[in-house]
This record gives sequence, C-alpha cells and structure tokens, in this order.
Amino acid sequence: MTTDAQILAALRNSNNVSGADLAQQLKISRTAVWAHIEELRKLGYEIEASPHLGYRLTNTPDLLLADDLSSRLAPSTVVGRHIQVFKQTASTNDILERFARDNAKEGVVVFAEAQTKGRGRLGRKWHSPAGLGLYFSVLLRPKLRPMEATQLTVAAATALVRAIDASTTVRPEIKWPNDLLAGGRKFAGVLTELSAELDTIKHLILGIGIDVNQTIDDFPAELHGIATSLRLAGGEAISRPALATRILQELDRDYARVCAGRFSELADEWESRCTTIGRNVGIRVGNRVLRGRAESLDADGALLVRTQHGRLERVIGGDVTLEK
Ligand code: BTN
Repeated sequence: MTTDAQILAALRNSNNVSGADLAQQLKISRTAVWAHIEELRKLGYEIEASPHLGYRLTNTPDLLLADDLSSRLAPSTVVGRHIQVFKQTASTNDILERFARDNAKEGVVVFAEAQTKGRGRLGRKWHSPAGLGLYFSVLLRPKLRPMEATQLTVAAATALVRAIDASTTVRPEIKWPNDLLAGGRKFAGVLTELSAELDTIKHLILGIGIDVNQTIDDFPAELHGIATSLRLAGGEAISRPALATRILQELDRDYARVCAGRFSELADEWESRCTTIGRNVGIRVGNRVLRGRAESLDADGALLVRTQHGRLERVIGGDVTLEK
C-alpha cells in the first residue's frame, strides 16, 4: 500500500489520528505526514487538523483514486489486490488484456473515469462519459473449464446486485444473462472475455459498466427510453468510490465461493432476482431465435430453456426478449 493509502486507511479506521501516531505507524517524519495530508487535500479530501486531536477525515471527493480504493479494502482481498485508475482509456478490458499477457496476477482491477471505445456484449458500444459512471475490469485466473466460465458472469451480477442493495435505495432486477435493470431500464452490464485452451481457462476478464450519476441529458438520444442510471432510478447522487469499494468486496466474496465449488449458493441468489426465469422468452443466438420458457440455471451457470417442443435447451449467450 502506498503512503497515501495508508494515511487514508488510518483516518478511516479512527475518528482522529495524531500526526505523531501516523508518523510512527508509517515510519516517516511528522513533516512528511503533513506534506502527504496537503497532497490529499489538493485532491479534494477534506481533512481537519486540530492541535489537540490530530487529523480527521470529514469528506471525500467523488473521484476514483487508486490509493483511496485500496485503503478501503481488506489487505487479504484477492479482487482489488492491485488497482489502477486511468483518467481516460479506449477500453479497460483492452488494458487488462495487455496486463494479462504480461503475466499480471489475478485480482488486478483497472478503472477508467472515461472510455472512448467502451464496448458491450454483441458488438455494442458502452457509452462511458467522464466522472459519471463506473467502468472497470477485473482480471481472474480461475481453475475452471471454459464451459464453467458463465459461473463468473453470474457471480458478477449477484455481487453487483448485493452491492447496489447495500449502497442505494434501488433494488435491481437481473435480465439474463447479466443486464441490471431498474424500472425496466438498463443501467449496468457485464462483458466477460475469455482466453482459454481446450479444457482450461488461461485468464478471464470481467468488464463491468454501471451508469451511476448520469442525468437523462447525459445519455445519447438513442438510449432515452431504454437506459437509466442509479441516480435517475433512486433519486439521489451516489458516491462512486463507496459503491466501487462495496462491489469489489462482494466480488471478492463471490469469486471465493465459485473457486470453492459453491456456485449453487450464488445461482439461487441470482435466480431470486432474475426476471427472465419463469418467463416466455425469445433468445437470439447468432441467426437463430430460440423460443421457450426460461426455467433455471444449470450447474455451470447456463440458462435452461424449455422449448415449445418440450426439449430442454442449454444457452450460454444471446440476446433475450421477453414474450407473452
Ligand atoms: C453489456 O451490457 O453489454 C456489457 C457492458 C460492459 C461495459 C464495460 S465498461 C468497462 C469494460 N470496458 C469495456 O470496454 N466494456 C466493459
């Protein structure tokens, strides 16, 4: 952890911390502590200083700063063990793909304040305006077979739902495979990209996009009527660093569950929030449209659809429309 991250962690863990205690903990001089506090103030952290009580963190900016995010996570975390934040990039999935090829450890997370070529599933664009949403990617190296990768997409969706339940007044619904909706409009999605050999996953990148503080004017006209943000759905602005932290904590927990072979616990949670289950659906898979009733998830996270002819089909990807 950097010195700034350690100072923020110490300020978060107690109401007041004296300069002398910080200096001792961090093995630096009191003057150096003061210089770091000044740097943090310039970034927008409001830190009160009193001669008797020491330093106190009174407000944090709505900025994604790697030190800040790291200081909020447990030292033992896998997801978020190393965090980088880019002011702007083409796509966080592309950055992480390069890191993965350079043998980066699993759990590395890359955030961007803005993306110029953010992408969604099925070749769609993910609109990523600066400072309003959360756009980030997580590198994982699970010991799973490629056909089990869907478990991690399901894990990501449940982690997002749990984090949003805990941090906002919005109660998201999941639309299979991994769209998050509020009031029938989409505000978040997961793009899973996989590098695999015949029967092993080399690495997997979870790319997560969430519309957090957008107002309707921040969306392009073609998304009006189909997209929303947590702020629009819940009626209040959300702290992006606080939400990002909670998501990384929940993802860490769910990743551990998948790695321990406890995917079924997640599948139950996912199904309870998925509005696609129990509905008649049409799923476009390539040129084909599969019609039937979405019944449940199987042990690998694939959707089981009972067709009009009574056959049970296993679907791992596609574009769903709900039918009557
Ligand atoms: C979808 O619903 O189609 C998935 C959207 C995923 C968007 C995120 S934003 C961060 C990461 N980088 C990208 O280019 N895409 C994902």
